[in-house]
Amino acid sequence: VYKERENIFSLNKLAARFYNYLLTDTNMGKEALEYLNKRGFNEEDIKRFHLGYAADEWQLLLNFLKKKDFSIHLIKKAGLISEGNNNSHYDKFRNRVMFPIFNNRGEVIAFGGRILDSEDNYGPKYLNSPETQIFSKKKNLYGLHLAKDRIRKENSCIIMEGYTDVIQAHKNGFKNSIASLGTAFTEEQAKLIKRYAENAYIAYDADTAGNKATLRGLDILNNTGINVKVIELEEGSDPDQLLKNEGSDVFNELIENAVNLIDFKINMIVKDKNLSEPGIRKKVLRSIVELLSGVEDNLEREIYLERAAAKTNFKADILAEEVEKEFKENK
Ligand code: UTP
Ligand code: MN
Ligand code: MN
Ligand code: MN
Ligand code: MN
Repeated sequence: VYKERENIFSLNKLAARFYNYLLTDTNMGKEALEYLNKRGFNEEDIKRFHLGYAADEWQLLLNFLKKKDFSIHLIKKAGLISEGNNNSHYDKFRNRVMFPIFNNRGEVIAFGGRILDSEDNYGPKYLNSPETQIFSKKKNLYGLHLAKDRIRKENSCIIMEGYTDVIQAHKNGFKNSIASLGTAFTEEQAKLIKRYAENAYIAYDADTAGNKATLRGLDILNNTGINVKVIELEEGSDPDQLLKNEGSDVFNELIENAVNLIDFKINMIVKDKNLSEPGIRKKVLRSIVELLSGVEDNLEREIYLERAAAKTNFKADILAEEVEKEFKENK
């Protein structure tokens, strides 16, 4: 089994090279290359993240790997082919831009494949490798192999959602950026970060899914003993779009204005609520009381109280009374 793991590493490495070759040096990859260029990613970015292209063919990778003496058994174990009828096999990734996922030693452990926008392609926007002997999605962070030294040096990292966010971030100099591969941030990932830094910023997409995931991520990171802040983007945006459209100065400002856990939670409680509606207003205030009564430090509690009162345009002393009542009850 040890040997099999090693062979899967070699196989993945070769597959990544093949995908990269198809993207950069063949006619088949032209459209994918144009797609990446149009999104603002150039030769250097492609090289840095070893991006590739899986051709619009059923068995191109399969035949290539077979010719290199890899068995169907192993290619399947690596998660690169699927089984069809009558024991036939076909490439899992077809007509997709390929993003190799590396472990922190820089070995290819899996792939994400993005559909090309222009195609009337089917399937999910991103297709990812299945869990394998060498890939566990919840234990890895995209871009960590490139970011780890900077993360250690700055004692801080920026956690994003996706591949393109991280690639755009590195391109713009934010080289301590990594992605949790979707929005489900895990405890294992928090522990992995803790090995390199004590501070983290979450820069998830400013949409419903991103906000929800931020709330989860905040608690997980905080419980792991990491000081965490949230970079708040303009509604509907993500780090890739923001950096591409507005540049690194604006992103730097957002980093400087990043909010802490309690502030972000207050913002989320208040967000999109009609505070002039008494029933809603009461619920919002109740949630704030609930939140603030969990803050142990007296001064801290007072500071957040003031801010919450200002944000809801509510009397601070009445809010304070409720919070103290709840605080004592919780003791
Ligand atoms: P997003 O939907 O925010 O995509 O998903 P994105 O990163 O902004 O990608 P672009 O800019 O449209 O190309 C965030 C991350 O969630 C995972 C991927 O890792 C993606 O980068 N994801 C998303 C999937 O695994 N599958 C999906 O179908 C969608
Ligand atoms: Mn998203
Ligand atoms: Mn989305
Ligand atoms: Mn996004
Ligand atoms: Mn995006």
